[in-house]
Amino acid sequence: MPTYQLTVNGRVRPVEADSDTPLLWILRDTLGLTGTKFGCGQGLCGSCTVHLDGQAVKSCQTSLKEAAGHRILTVEGLSKDGSHPVQRAWIAEDVAQCGYCQPGMIMTAAALLKHKAHPTDGDIDQAFADHVCRCGTYPRVRKAVKRAAGGAE
Ligand code: FES
Ligand code: FES
Repeated sequence: MPTYQLTVNGRVRPVEADSDTPLLWILRDTLGLTGTKFGCGQGLCGSCTVHLDGQAVKSCQTSLKEAAGHRILTVEGLSKDGSHPVQRAWIAEDVAQCGYCQPGMIMTAAALLKHKAHPTDGDIDQAFADHVCRCGTYPRVRKAVKRAAGGAE
């Protein structure tokens, strides 16, 4: 099996696995970064979202060979102590219910705000269109994104 050098949360990690292995399983099973969640495995729920070179991607739909050579950021790497503005806004708005979908939501919010400092409702709807939350936290997600952008509703 080939060995790939993955840059995850600022650290280079050698990984030996089949080229087509989904990044999600490399993160969770090989590297022990279980903050990234498995929901559907089909690109439909967003719970596996991580950043690849600053863009939100679904790690269940990203292969090991596609991820190699790029900067991968998982929810564990967003901040050392939960102090990222999105994490603080999530706490302030008490967004999470069961929490399962939340790492993916947070990573999408962080990527959105990186590219658009003051997203409109339409921008938020578009960014979260592929996220599913069985607990229905969507209204609080919207509030928290706006709070993180500096304009609490
Ligand atoms: S597990 Fe990747 S989108 Fe659902
Ligand atoms: S908080 Fe429970 S699935 Fe979203």
